[in-house]
Amino acid sequence: AAADHVTIDGAPRTKTVLDRHIFGQFSEQLGRGIEDGIWVGPDSRIPNIDGFRRDVVEGLKALHVSDIRWPGGCFADEYHWRDGIGPRDRRPVRTNTNWGDTTEDNAFGTQEFMRFTALVGADRYLAVNLGSASPSEGAEWLQYITAPHGSTLANERSTNGDPQPWTVSMIGIGNELWGCGGTMEAGYAADLTRRYATFLKVPDSMHALKIASGPYGDDTAWTETMMRHASDQIDGLSLHFYTMPKDWKHVAKSHATGFDQTDWTRVLSMAAQMDTVLSAQERVMDKYDPSRRVALIVDEWGTWYEPEPGTNPHWLFQQNTIRDALVASTTFDIFARHAARVRGANIAQMVNVLQALFLTDGATTIRTPTYWAFDLYKNDQGGSVLPTRVTTHRLTHGSWSIEALSASAVRGRDGVVRLALTNTDPEQSDAVDVSLSGLSERNVSGRILTGPAMDARNTAEHPDAVRPAPFESAVLSGNALQVTLPPRSVVMLELR
Ligand code: AHR
Repeated sequence: AAADHVTIDGAPRTKTVLDRHIFGQFSEQLGRGIEDGIWVGPDSRIPNIDGFRRDVVEGLKALHVSDIRWPGGCFADEYHWRDGIGPRDRRPVRTNTNWGDTTEDNAFGTQEFMRFTALVGADRYLAVNLGSASPSEGAEWLQYITAPHGSTLANERSTNGDPQPWTVSMIGIGNELWGCGGTMEAGYAADLTRRYATFLKVPDSMHALKIASGPYGDDTAWTETMMRHASDQIDGLSLHFYTMPKDWKHVAKSHATGFDQTDWTRVLSMAAQMDTVLSAQERVMDKYDPSRRVALIVDEWGTWYEPEPGTNPHWLFQQNTIRDALVASTTFDIFARHAARVRGANIAQMVNVLQALFLTDGATTIRTPTYWAFDLYKNDQGGSVLPTRVTTHRLTHGSWSIEALSASAVRGRDGVVRLALTNTDPEQSDAVDVSLSGLSERNVSGRILTGPAMDARNTAEHPDAVRPAPFESAVLSGNALQVTLPPRSVVMLELR
C-alpha cells in the first residue's frame, strides 16, 4: 500500500462556513428528469404523494437537500411560466426545442415545483427566463409565487390551489447567456442583467439571492465584464463546469461504464480541474469584490458521458458508478477549499439526467453511487471548514495523472468533526497518517463507500451493490489517526 499524509488545523484563526447550498440539486425539464423522474401524476400506479414519486421524495428528504434549481438549464430561457399553471388538462403542450423536440405538456409547473420542494424541505432556486421573455414576465412570475393575499396575481395563485405565498431563496437571471440563453456578448449580457435584476423582486424578508449567468469553466473574460458592470446589482455569479471532454466529438467516446484505468484517470483528472477553474475565477472576482460579497454558485457540475445505448440521445440518460461517487467526493473537497467564495453548487442533474442521484425505470428507482456520496457528506452542510493539508503521490495512466488522496474536514453544526478521505487509486490501498492539531476529540467511527470494480454500480437487480458500510479500522491515538483506505473508496470519519 502507498502512504500519504494529512494535517488538519482544528483551531483555524478565521472561520469559514461551508454553505449548505453547496449540496444543491438541479432539475431541468429535460428527458425523464422531471416527467417520470419526479412527476408521475396522482393517478399513476407508481407510488406517489400527490403525483410526486414517493421513493424520490423520501430519498431526497433523507439527504436534507438544501435547494433545487428549476426549470433549466437551457429550457429556462424558453420557458413561459403561464404555460405551467391552472388545471393540468388545459395547459398548453409545447415543443422542447433544446432537448430533442419532444412534447412538453407542462404538467409539472410552478405550483408543482413549489409543492414538491415543500415536501422535500428544499429551498427554491428559480431560473428566470431572460433570453426570450420580458422583465415584467419574470417579475409577475415572482409576484404570483410570493405575493401575499390581495393582488390579482396572488388571487390567481389562490384560485389555483395555493392561498399562502411561497418563498424563493435564489433567483437566476437567465442561463448560459453566452450560449443557449441568447448567444450574447458579455457586455450586453451584463447590461441586461442589471436591467432584469432591477425588476426581479421578492419580499425583502426572503433575502433571496440574485444570481447572474456566469462563465463556463475558465472563461475569465466573461467574469471580468460581468463583475465590472453588474456586480453591484447581484449577489451571486453562476459558473458551469462539467467533467466532459472539451471537444463534443469525444463525448461520444466517453462511457459511463466498461472503461479502463486510463479512462478512470482521465475522468477524475478532468473533475480535479474544478480546483484551478475556481481559483482562476476567484482571482477576477477578488479584484472587483475583495470583501467576497458576491458568491460564486457552481450551479451546473458533474460528469457528462455518452448517453446509454438505446436511449434518446437528447435525454442525457447515463449510468452512474463508484467513479462518479469519487468525482462527487473529490469535488466536495474542492468546494470546501474554496468555501469562502463558493457558496452554492447544483449537481447536474438530480434524476435520470447526467450525473444523477436517482435512476428510475417504471416503478423501480435506484439510488446511485453519487446519491451515497451526497449521503456521506450531508452533515457537512453549514459546518465550519477545518483547513486541511494533503501530502500525496500521483497516479499516472496514459497521458492522465491524478492525486491519489483527496481530503476535507469540517466541524459540523452538531460539533462533530468530520474528515472525508478519498482514495482515487483504482487498484491499491492507501495508508494515510492524519495529524490532528488543535483537536481534543478521542473517539472515531466512520462509513465507507466503495465497490468491487471500477465501474461498480447499482441496478434494479442489485440496487445495493454500492452503498455505504460501517468503517471500523481507523485508529486514533492522541493526535494521530491512522487509516488504510481500500482502493477506489470514500471514507467519512466522525471524531467525537
Ligand atoms: O444540464 C444540461 C445543460 O447543460 C443545461 O441545460 C445547460 O445549462 C448546460 O449547457
